[in-house]
Amino acid sequence: MAANLERSFIAVKPDGVERGLVGEIVRRFETRGFKILALQLVQPSEELLREHYQDLASKPFFPKLLAYMRSGPVAAFVIQGKGAVKIGRDMLGATNPQDSAPGTIRADFALDIGKNVCHGSDSVESAEREIALWFPAGVASYTRAVDAVLYE
Ligand code: TYD
Repeated sequence: MAANLERSFIAVKPDGVERGLVGEIVRRFETRGFKILALQLVQPSEELLREHYQDLASKPFFPKLLAYMRSGPVAAFVIQGKGAVKIGRDMLGATNPQDSAPGTIRADFALDIGKNVCHGSDSVESAEREIALWFPAGVASYTRAVDAVLYE
Protein backbone atom coordinates (compact mmCIF):
# COMPACT_ATOMS: atom_id res chain seq x y z
CA MET A 1 0.00 0.00 0.00
CA ALA A 2 1.30 3.48 -0.84
CA ALA A 3 2.35 5.36 2.32
CA ASN A 4 -0.10 8.18 1.67
CA LEU A 5 -2.99 5.69 1.71
CA GLU A 6 -2.37 4.45 5.28
CA ARG A 7 -5.54 4.57 7.35
CA SER A 8 -6.31 4.72 11.06
CA PHE A 9 -9.44 4.44 13.14
CA ILE A 10 -9.95 7.28 15.60
CA ALA A 11 -12.82 7.67 18.04
CA VAL A 12 -13.97 10.39 20.40
CA LYS A 13 -15.21 8.46 23.44
CA PRO A 14 -18.52 9.28 25.19
CA ASP A 15 -16.93 11.77 27.61
CA GLY A 16 -15.44 13.67 24.67
CA VAL A 17 -18.79 13.76 22.86
CA GLU A 18 -20.56 14.88 26.06
CA ARG A 19 -18.00 17.66 26.53
CA GLY A 20 -18.39 18.95 22.97
CA LEU A 21 -14.88 18.01 21.84
CA VAL A 22 -15.77 16.21 18.59
CA GLY A 23 -15.20 19.22 16.33
CA GLU A 24 -11.93 20.18 18.05
CA ILE A 25 -10.52 16.66 17.78
CA VAL A 26 -11.58 16.13 14.15
CA ARG A 27 -10.20 19.59 13.32
CA ARG A 28 -6.73 18.64 14.61
CA PHE A 29 -6.55 15.68 12.23
CA GLU A 30 -7.93 17.68 9.31
CA THR A 31 -5.54 20.58 9.76
CA ARG A 32 -2.59 18.19 10.13
CA GLY A 33 -3.45 17.10 6.60
CA PHE A 34 -5.27 13.82 7.05
CA LYS A 35 -8.21 13.02 4.83
CA ILE A 36 -11.44 12.02 6.59
CA LEU A 37 -12.83 8.86 4.98
CA ALA A 38 -15.74 8.22 7.36
CA LEU A 39 -17.39 10.01 10.26
CA GLN A 40 -20.30 8.74 12.30
CA LEU A 41 -21.87 8.95 15.74
CA VAL A 42 -22.26 5.36 16.94
CA GLN A 43 -23.94 3.89 20.01
CA PRO A 44 -21.71 0.81 20.27
CA SER A 45 -23.16 -2.53 21.35
CA GLU A 46 -21.43 -4.63 23.98
CA GLU A 47 -20.67 -7.14 21.22
CA LEU A 48 -18.91 -4.51 19.10
CA LEU A 49 -16.85 -3.30 22.07
CA ARG A 50 -15.85 -6.84 23.07
CA GLU A 51 -14.59 -7.33 19.52
CA HIS A 52 -12.90 -3.92 19.44
CA TYR A 53 -11.12 -4.49 22.77
CA GLN A 54 -10.57 -8.24 22.24
CA ASP A 55 -7.04 -8.14 23.68
CA LEU A 56 -8.17 -6.54 26.94
CA ALA A 57 -10.99 -8.90 27.98
CA SER A 58 -9.00 -10.38 30.87
CA LYS A 59 -7.84 -7.02 32.29
CA PRO A 60 -9.23 -5.94 35.66
CA PHE A 61 -10.35 -2.60 34.23
CA PHE A 62 -12.27 -4.20 31.34
CA PRO A 63 -15.80 -4.09 32.89
CA LYS A 64 -15.36 -0.41 33.73
CA LEU A 65 -14.01 0.27 30.23
CA LEU A 66 -17.05 -1.44 28.72
CA ALA A 67 -19.47 0.60 30.86
CA TYR A 68 -17.61 3.84 30.02
CA MET A 69 -17.66 3.13 26.29
CA ARG A 70 -21.40 2.34 26.46
CA SER A 71 -22.28 5.44 28.49
CA GLY A 72 -23.13 7.50 25.38
CA PRO A 73 -22.46 7.84 21.69
CA VAL A 74 -18.94 7.55 20.27
CA ALA A 75 -17.82 9.73 17.37
CA ALA A 76 -16.05 7.22 15.14
CA PHE A 77 -13.95 8.36 12.22
CA VAL A 78 -11.30 7.19 9.80
CA ILE A 79 -8.26 9.21 8.78
CA GLN A 80 -6.02 8.55 5.80
CA GLY A 81 -2.55 9.86 5.09
CA LYS A 82 1.16 9.29 5.49
CA GLY A 83 1.90 7.94 8.97
CA ALA A 84 -1.80 7.88 9.95
CA VAL A 85 -1.38 5.20 12.64
CA LYS A 86 1.75 6.49 14.38
CA ILE A 87 0.95 10.17 14.03
CA GLY A 88 -2.61 9.43 15.13
CA ARG A 89 -1.30 7.84 18.34
CA ASP A 90 1.21 10.65 18.84
CA MET A 91 -1.53 13.25 18.49
CA LEU A 92 -3.71 11.46 21.07
CA GLY A 93 -0.88 11.21 23.61
CA ALA A 94 -0.04 8.50 26.15
CA THR A 95 -2.91 6.27 27.30
CA ASN A 96 -2.75 7.82 30.77
CA PRO A 97 -3.37 11.58 30.43
CA GLN A 98 -1.15 12.08 33.48
CA ASP A 99 1.75 11.01 31.22
CA SER A 100 0.60 12.61 27.96
CA ALA A 101 2.94 15.14 26.40
CA PRO A 102 1.72 18.75 26.38
CA GLY A 103 -0.09 19.62 23.17
CA THR A 104 -1.53 16.15 22.71
CA ILE A 105 -5.30 15.70 22.82
CA ARG A 106 -5.28 13.74 26.08
CA ALA A 107 -2.94 16.23 27.76
CA ASP A 108 -5.05 19.14 26.61
CA PHE A 109 -8.44 17.67 27.51
CA ALA A 110 -8.15 14.82 30.04
CA LEU A 111 -6.83 13.92 33.48
CA ASP A 112 -7.77 10.28 34.14
CA ILE A 113 -6.86 7.08 32.26
CA GLY A 114 -10.45 5.83 32.58
CA LYS A 115 -11.75 9.03 30.96
CA ASN A 116 -9.12 9.63 28.31
CA VAL A 117 -11.43 11.12 25.66
CA CYS A 118 -10.21 9.36 22.54
CA HIS A 119 -9.02 6.16 20.87
CA GLY A 120 -6.56 5.55 18.06
CA SER A 121 -5.49 2.30 16.39
CA ASP A 122 -2.09 0.98 17.52
CA SER A 123 -0.98 -0.71 14.27
CA VAL A 124 -1.86 -0.80 10.59
CA GLU A 125 -3.35 -4.28 11.11
CA SER A 126 -5.57 -3.22 14.02
CA ALA A 127 -6.57 -0.08 12.10
CA GLU A 128 -7.89 -2.16 9.21
CA ARG A 129 -9.65 -4.53 11.64
CA GLU A 130 -11.24 -1.64 13.56
CA ILE A 131 -12.32 0.21 10.39
CA ALA A 132 -14.10 -2.95 9.16
CA LEU A 133 -15.70 -3.42 12.59
CA TRP A 134 -17.01 0.13 13.08
CA PHE A 135 -17.82 0.79 9.42
CA PRO A 136 -19.10 -2.55 8.09
CA ALA A 137 -20.67 -0.83 5.06
CA GLY A 138 -17.26 0.49 4.07
CA VAL A 139 -15.70 3.95 3.97
CA ALA A 140 -15.18 6.57 1.28
CA SER A 141 -12.28 6.64 -1.12
CA TYR A 142 -11.62 9.87 -2.99
CA THR A 143 -8.87 12.09 -4.28
CA ARG A 144 -8.22 15.63 -3.10
CA ALA A 145 -6.47 18.34 -5.07
CA VAL A 146 -4.77 19.47 -1.84
CA ASP A 147 -2.80 16.21 -1.62
CA ALA A 148 -0.63 17.47 -4.48
CA VAL A 149 0.35 20.41 -2.25
CA LEU A 150 0.59 18.44 0.99
CA TYR A 151 3.01 15.71 -0.11
CA GLU A 152 6.47 16.09 -1.70
P1 TYD B 1 -5.04 0.34 25.78
O1 TYD B 1 -5.42 -0.36 24.52
O2 TYD B 1 -3.97 -0.25 26.64
O3 TYD B 1 -4.61 1.87 25.51
P2 TYD B 1 -4.88 2.81 24.25
O4 TYD B 1 -6.33 3.25 24.31
O5 TYD B 1 -3.96 3.99 24.46
O6 TYD B 1 -4.54 2.03 23.02
O7 TYD B 1 -6.32 0.48 26.71
C1 TYD B 1 -7.61 0.76 26.17
C2 TYD B 1 -8.33 1.71 27.06
O8 TYD B 1 -8.56 1.11 28.32
C3 TYD B 1 -7.54 2.98 27.40
O9 TYD B 1 -7.67 3.98 26.40
C4 TYD B 1 -8.15 3.40 28.70
C5 TYD B 1 -8.55 2.08 29.36
N1 TYD B 1 -7.58 1.70 30.40
C6 TYD B 1 -7.94 1.85 31.74
O10 TYD B 1 -9.03 2.32 32.06
N2 TYD B 1 -7.04 1.48 32.71
C7 TYD B 1 -5.81 0.97 32.40
O11 TYD B 1 -5.02 0.66 33.32
C8 TYD B 1 -5.44 0.83 31.01
C9 TYD B 1 -4.09 0.28 30.63
C10 TYD B 1 -6.38 1.19 30.06
